[in-house]
Amino acid sequence: MSEARPVVVLTHPILEPGPTLLREATELRLLPNQYRHPVEALRKAAEGAQGMVTQLMDPIGEEVLRTPGLKIVSNVAVGYDNIDVPTATRHGVMVTNTPGILDDTTADFAFALLMAAGRRLLEADRFVRGGAFAGWAIDMLLGHDVSGATLGIVGFGRIGRGVARRARAFGMRVIYYDEFPATPEVEQELGVTRSELYPLLSEADFVSVHVPLTPATRHLFSSKEFATMKPSAVLVNTSRGPVVDEAALAHALKEREIFAAGLDVYENEPQVHPELLKLENVVLAPHIASASVKTRSRMSEVAARNCITGVRGGRPPNLLNPEVLDSRR
Ligand code: GLV
Repeated sequence: MSEARPVVVLTHPILEPGPTLLREATELRLLPNQYRHPVEALRKAAEGAQGMVTQLMDPIGEEVLRTPGLKIVSNVAVGYDNIDVPTATRHGVMVTNTPGILDDTTADFAFALLMAAGRRLLEADRFVRGGAFAGWAIDMLLGHDVSGATLGIVGFGRIGRGVARRARAFGMRVIYYDEFPATPEVEQELGVTRSELYPLLSEADFVSVHVPLTPATRHLFSSKEFATMKPSAVLVNTSRGPVVDEAALAHALKEREIFAAGLDVYENEPQVHPELLKLENVVLAPHIASASVKTRSRMSEVAARNCITGVRGGRPPNLLNPEVLDSRR
């Protein structure tokens, strides 16, 4: 008699080859198309399932993680702040993410935001489309140079380092802040210097944020930090929205405490602070830093493979809480 196939819940559609891989190996349950599933719907969907393939808008806490028989929650993202990992560990549920795939795509996009905000690209586009372009003018839409400027990178993991590589090619001076210093070899290879946070904020012409969202990084950027930055500075955030206090940012941009910002992420996605929507000096993107065809397909594939390995009782490559396996021995 053949064994029953493991049941896996897919909370939102993913890209091929993810669904094909999952259908081949599991009994797949796709939840109804809805941006934010209520916790109760996630809990009910998890009943009888061994695996879940989740996304960053799915809050995965105690209610879901205590489901008997659940073995793995596989997040289709590098960030996993939507999952309560200690609680998962306590219930013996493995948690995985998709690291190392989206670093270049995200670093490219952070750089695109940096340039667009610094050189007022979207404002310029609106200007032309609005019929305001009446001819070349010496003082029209003046921005700030990227080349030769100082870039401060806050959070120097894989994505932050990718941004540093791009910045060097643009002739920028790069300083970084991270509670864990990079090795001298990495600093030398990338031509970067470590700084404390506040000196970095006061020196940098551009600040790009690449920290994970944790209790310690929530509102890492607020009024005090904007007041420390130069009036000509540009802030770029492609990490997680709550790292930046949006109301304080809107105030700083409006009062020209800083020059501009480029944002891909928001405190209460998909809502954007209404004051930000009114401002010309902020470039707003809808959480698409990793959104290239290749990268999003690969993220879907890796998440599917992590889940399949987990429901089959193996050790998924991107396991975040290996303690779960120790406790099974
Ligand atoms: C996207 O934001 C991710 O964490 O992969």
